[in-house]
Amino acid sequence: MCSPFYARIEASTSRLFIVAFFVVDSFAGKVLKDDRVNKKFAKSDPNRLTTNLKAFVEVAAHCAGAKYKGKNMKNAHKNMGVTEGEFKAVAEDLVKTLDEFKVPEKEKSELLAAIGPTQKDIVGKPGNMMTGTDLPANFKPAAPLKAKAPMKKM
Ligand code: HEM
Repeated sequence: MCSPFYARIEASTSRLFIVAFFVVDSFAGKVLKDDRVNKKFAKSDPNRLTTNLKAFVEVAAHCAGAKYKGKNMKNAHKNMGVTEGEFKAVAEDLVKTLDEFKVPEKEKSELLAAIGPTQKDIVGKPGNMMTGTDLPANFKPAAPLKAKAPMKKM
């Protein structure tokens, strides 16, 4: 079952995915504009990032039928040198987005509680509260998502 908030506002599964789509799109847009963290995204494929982030959030919100096909959090953020301060900055951007979409307190804290435990796998520099740090040269981005094959003409 999907988080009751999403289930309440949109009963049908396809619409529910559209809700997650807008929330995550707005969140990803905020993160990419945020100078405290956006250096880390310089080498990454934005299409892969938003696609996989959407699926990750849908799974975290218990959306029926949601499937996450990206890397686990440790591998996805390996050699990225993410500081604790940068993790907090991204979490702040997420809270701002959820507030803009008027997600009620209960569902907001449920989603944040699901994402909180990822901190230990994502942060490479615990206790370091700096933000805007450079992407280390040895970071290797994941392969870009392949574009879908065009429909065959009949
Ligand atoms: C709030 C907790 C976070 C969650 C839930 C999260 C989740 C994700 C997910 C699901 C992916 C996609 C993995 C894939 O495509 O295989 C990803 C990739 C990425 N994340 Fe995060 N992330 C978080 C925090 C951060 C922070 C704090 C930073 C940097 C400041 C960051 C930087 C990145 C980058 C650059 C990628 C692309 C990696 C690549 O191209 O290989 N993330 N993240």
